[in-house]
Amino acid sequence: MLNQKIIAAMNEQINSELFSSYLYVDMANFYGEKHLYGFQHWFMKQASEEAEHAEKFIDFLVKNAAHVELKPVNGETRAYKDLREPLTIQLAHEQKVTSLIEKIYDLADEFKDRRVAHFLDWFIDEQSEEEATAFALIDRYDRLAIDSKGLAMLDEELGKR
Ligand SMILES: [Fe+2]
Ligand SMILES: [Fe+2]
Repeated sequence: MLNQKIIAAMNEQINSELFSSYLYVDMANFYGEKHLYGFQHWFMKQASEEAEHAEKFIDFLVKNAAHVELKPVNGETRAYKDLREPLTIQLAHEQKVTSLIEKIYDLADEFKDRRVAHFLDWFIDEQSEEEATAFALIDRYDRLAIDSKGLAMLDEELGKR
């Protein structure tokens, strides 16, 4: 049986993953409205991955006979000040998600639940990748999007994801 605190934290995490998905759909829409279809595509893919993360937690809870409780997703359409801002918000958001995953990991340690720790290992690796990808995107944006030609190149590249 999973500890109640772990079940509660995982249910919170399902909400955070669905919020991430919602956030990235909003960013995709922002770029789509600016006809940057590569950026739009890239963020829609990102949004799908976040929904898959929620699904992994749901599966884990269900398979361990724990109750899944969905809460309202606190997402909304934001006003981004420029093309770069979503990229920095993404990095900060992923860093926050990493800390949330680590908190569940702390609970796994506290209750000596190796099954939970093992399950979370995948997310620890995934978060390193997510942060690295978000950072690299800012870096590529800063080096390429200095003119409209560079921006178009980056947009094309992101469209291939
Ligand atoms: Fe995620
Ligand atoms: Fe993520």
